Amino acid sequence: MTVLNDNLPISKSDSWRMFDDISPRYDFLNRLLSFGLDAFWRRQLVRFLPAQHNQKLLDLATGTADVPLTLVRHHKNIEYAVGIDLADKMLSIGQAKVTRAKLEDKITLNHGDARQTNFNADVFNVVTMAFGIRNVEDPLQVLREMRRVLKPQGRTLILEFSLPENKILRAGHLFYLRSVVPAIGGLISGHGAAYRYLNQTIEHFPCGAAFCAIMEDAGFRNPTAHPLMGGIATIYAGEKG
Ligand SMILES: C[S@@+](CC[C@H](N)C(=O)[O-])C[C@H]1O[C@@H](n2cnc3c(N)ncnc32)[C@H](O)[C@@H]1O
Repeated sequence: MTVLNDNLPISKSDSWRMFDDISPRYDFLNRLLSFGLDAFWRRQLVRFLPAQHNQKLLDLATGTADVPLTLVRHHKNIEYAVGIDLADKMLSIGQAKVTRAKLEDKITLNHGDARQTNFNADVFNVVTMAFGIRNVEDPLQVLREMRRVLKPQGRTLILEFSLPENKILRAGHLFYLRSVVPAIGGLISGHGAAYRYLNQTIEHFPCGAAFCAIMEDAGFRNPTAHPLMGGIATIYAGEKG
């Protein structure tokens, strides 16, 4: 199930190269362009973690490791977290953050592809992915991989940008995405295409019920969508039946 996006300035299969290019400014621009909300949204994932002890967590497209750092800091029941990404420069920045936080015993970062990981089936209690599923050509393939590596009854949590349903909020948000984000993001990162890619991929990505239907196709039971801040971002949760 490929999400078509014909006029993207960068192809989704090469998006990791773009993230390597912008890696020195990635965290700073995330905080700036979202007014700090990206960190708040990642923290909301904690509410959806299962309560059981000794959870093994996998974070796909982990980038600079903000998801494993946030979840390990705010949820005492995570035994360990593994983060994988294709962009080695993003991972190096993430590794420095993990070391600074003295969490090397709990968080491991590895080079790896979300479309086909090298983990055995039925290993993890939780598999997460934040702002990553929009960057792969075939979300269904990644969702199937998430389901494969989850233990039975394991949970997947996906955080992704979405578009508000309220027409006024949506119009204001689209203006911000189309005009402000490429201008500021391009200026500070020196990579204008990356921030045009951002708004175009957000606008074309299936969100809400449409994404839940893809999760169901991948075999997740009762997928649910939880809009944040009027639907600017959404957390999707689903369980392996
Ligand atoms: C917007 S960043 C999100 C990073 C991080 N999850 C966060 O919350 O900030 C998207 C990440 O997806 C990674 N990525 C893109 N395609 C991938 C793939 N097939 N496998 C693993 N990572 C991928 C990129 O390298 C990039 O680090």
